[in-house]
Amino acid sequence: MENQRPVIISPSLLASDFTRLGQELDDLEKAGISWVHWDVMDGAFVPNITFGPPVISACRKRSSLFFDVHLMIENPDRYLDEFAKAGADLLCVHAEACLHLERTVSEIARLGIRPAVSLNPHTSLNVLEYVLPQLYMVLIMSVNPGFGGQSFIPFSMDKVSRLKKMIREKDADTLIQVDGGVTPDNTYELVQRGADILVSGSAFFAYPPYRERLEVFENAAAGR
Ligand code: DX5
Ligand code: ZN
Repeated sequence: MENQRPVIISPSLLASDFTRLGQELDDLEKAGISWVHWDVMDGAFVPNITFGPPVISACRKRSSLFFDVHLMIENPDRYLDEFAKAGADLLCVHAEACLHLERTVSEIARLGIRPAVSLNPHTSLNVLEYVLPQLYMVLIMSVNPGFGGQSFIPFSMDKVSRLKKMIREKDADTLIQVDGGVTPDNTYELVQRGADILVSGSAFFAYPPYRERLEVFENAAAGR
């Protein structure tokens, strides 16, 4: 098995009930969830708009979950400071949105936040070659970003294996996250190939109670 660490499930709030966001966070925490995934969209990098620092900041006061913030925004440098102040634990920028990726990654680390980089499905792993050791996590997008509920793009599986190999070769301890179309059905293979964190939106929130759904994912990850 590629991965000895227990998999982390990071539910994507995009699929949660926005009218009860605070309660959703409480329920996730009570269900044994440790990470929660915030999909920030700007209507420019992706054709959809969601939420930004004020919403995250308000929720930070209520929740001690690990805030995994996925920035699907153009020129994220403009907002790193604001997201740090809002209470992000990790900031994940898209390589496609950063002209000077090393600068952006260094700035996130300087702000005391864990730096991560996301790649769209078509983007080669090559862009990570030199920055990989600086990254706490790499996010492999397994759908084109912008919407929840899309189908997993099959070639993403191979990309996870290749990234795992690259991390080993660099002797780095970077974590691998996979986001988009993740379900209990593809969980086992993703973990086998080296995924450490799985984001799930529609396949998580549509199946309460959350504690039982978490168990379904954990059992799938363990091949049970
Ligand atoms: C897509 C987002 C994903 C999405 C996942 O742009 O980055 O986090 O919400 O949702 P599902 O699990 O429904 O594909
Ligand atoms: Zn996401």
